[in-house]
Amino acid sequence: MTLGYMPGFGNDFETEAAPGALPQGQNSPQRCAYGLYAEQLSGSPFTAPRGTNERSWLYRIRPSVRHTSRFRRVEVPFWKTAPHIVDHGLPLGPLRWDPVPMPNEALTFVTGLRTMTTAGDVYTQVGMAAHVMLVTASMVDDYFYNADGELMVVPQSGELLFFTELGRIKVGPGEIAVIPRGMKFKVELVDGPVRGYVCENYGAKFTLPERGPIGANCLANPRDFKTPVAAFEEKETACRLTVKWCGTFNTCEIGHSPLDVVAWHGNYTPYKYDLRTFSPVGALLFDHPDPSIFTVLTAPSGEAGTANIDFVIFPERWMVAEHSFRPPWYHMNIMSEFMGLIYGQYDAKETGFVPGGMSLHNCMLPHGPDKPAFDKASFSELKPVKLTGTMAFMFETRFPQQLTEFAARLPGLQDDYPECWNGLDRNFDPARPEWPAPGARAGE
Ligand SMILES: [Fe+2]
Repeated sequence: MTLGYMPGFGNDFETEAAPGALPQGQNSPQRCAYGLYAEQLSGSPFTAPRGTNERSWLYRIRPSVRHTSRFRRVEVPFWKTAPHIVDHGLPLGPLRWDPVPMPNEALTFVTGLRTMTTAGDVYTQVGMAAHVMLVTASMVDDYFYNADGELMVVPQSGELLFFTELGRIKVGPGEIAVIPRGMKFKVELVDGPVRGYVCENYGAKFTLPERGPIGANCLANPRDFKTPVAAFEEKETACRLTVKWCGTFNTCEIGHSPLDVVAWHGNYTPYKYDLRTFSPVGALLFDHPDPSIFTVLTAPSGEAGTANIDFVIFPERWMVAEHSFRPPWYHMNIMSEFMGLIYGQYDAKETGFVPGGMSLHNCMLPHGPDKPAFDKASFSELKPVKLTGTMAFMFETRFPQQLTEFAARLPGLQDDYPECWNGLDRNFDPARPEWPAPGARAGE
């Protein structure tokens, strides 16, 4: 199978999988080529300003009204939706988890999502959910769309093939895929089980952050985002479509594949992005900027500079700052931070936070480098150092993240996590401004 992609972020694309299937000069001809039906999928209100107005025109074998029938409610018990505030009994604190083991049972992308946190409110289209993704089975005759938000998929182990209405996207560790709200798709395994993370965004779509004085280049560059070319499935056998809507799951039987879009044009599209193409900007002499400098995509909240979600990465980079504490500093933050590690080692926590693991530092809870990281950063010679082979990420939201029962009960929840800061003891001696004292090293 060949996969084709078109470069650019938010472009007005056009593509067809059969010659002449895409109408030229108009959206809605009296009769479409090949007897296709024309359908508009809107990702924004019709009257949204041009900069945020998103829609695509789909030319398909059947209209979407034929891809649904009478729904029945089904249970997908581990996929939770905000508001979801449960009395899980865990007291307030920083939290960290080992990777969730791959299960033996057959789990698809839909049944294999395990919600860790929810934030905001799906009914007012604000906030997000952070999920663990455990996929051991391909969707064959099952199709899905999410009316509650777009899905940002972050594989950590193994590759996935998304077959969406607008085309096919393959992603593996180090890449992300974003599937828009309302877009039908199925997910297939490429070569064995897959683990990863998913951010479900109930609010305004992810977009590229402003660059300010950085200028026209660096960070995530638009041409590195890839949107698939048109591809469709001709299948006239029994299939099921499941819809997630305001936290409910609803399934119906249909006699064909809903992935029947032969041609399309527009700017409301799925896409993939290779996180290794992110061009980081950072400290060149001393100190370091806020971690917002590593924002790949931001989902605005309507209040300037206050994101519904920022998707931030900590990629390979050189550390060159002089006379500076190079890891992230100790901090407290109004935003709530859910972190994961795709591969390698994270510089503020060299142990305990492993690939596939997670941490949660909620609104106004203190955190920062652990004791070994503090000692290493305080006393190592500040030569240029390259952090190699590492990729951590953060889903950061303005809303407090509420833990699910699943997250609170995970065996991999590290009970001793807060102890990683033990040993960060008082060094202060009012008689000795110079620290450590000449000839001594702190802690020895
Ligand atoms: Fe933080």
